[in-house]
Amino acid sequence: MNIDQKEIKNLMNKALEASKLSYSPYSHFPVGAAILCGDGEIVTAANIENRSFGLTICAERSAIVKAISLGKKDFRAIAICCSRADYPVSPCGACRQVISEFASPDMPVYFSGADIDNRIETTVAKLFPFNALDELKEGVYKE
Ligand code: THU
Repeated sequence: MNIDQKEIKNLMNKALEASKLSYSPYSHFPVGAAILCGDGEIVTAANIENRSFGLTICAERSAIVKAISLGKKDFRAIAICCSRADYPVSPCGACRQVISEFASPDMPVYFSGADIDNRIETTVAKLFPFNALDELKEGVYKE
């Protein structure tokens, strides 16, 4: 299903809005994510840091976990906005893996810095090539 530029901009705006709810007292780097779900709803979330730094949860993973917990599926696109960056910041490696668990390889991924019009439009497969272990989802190693 095609997503037009107006919808993409709306999704980016939601990600920008979500970044305002970021809890990032350590990095001072607020990030927001917005997922367009199969039912047309948009689920948003922000990065949540922790004083034990490794426990930080990125905006993308927060959004995926929230959406799944709300019973959402068939994700159509994800937008990410790092509202203090002056360049488009792409999802970290861990988030790419987690997004790939729930999204099809051709699902669009959009990301920007503060300027949502200066965004990269790509796909899950391009961000996460050589995907592996999908067979585990099918239970092929079951006895
Ligand atoms: N962060 C995200 O939430 N998403 C990204 O795509 C990049 C990094 C967060 C994690 C941490 O709270 C802060 O940005 C600095 O790395």
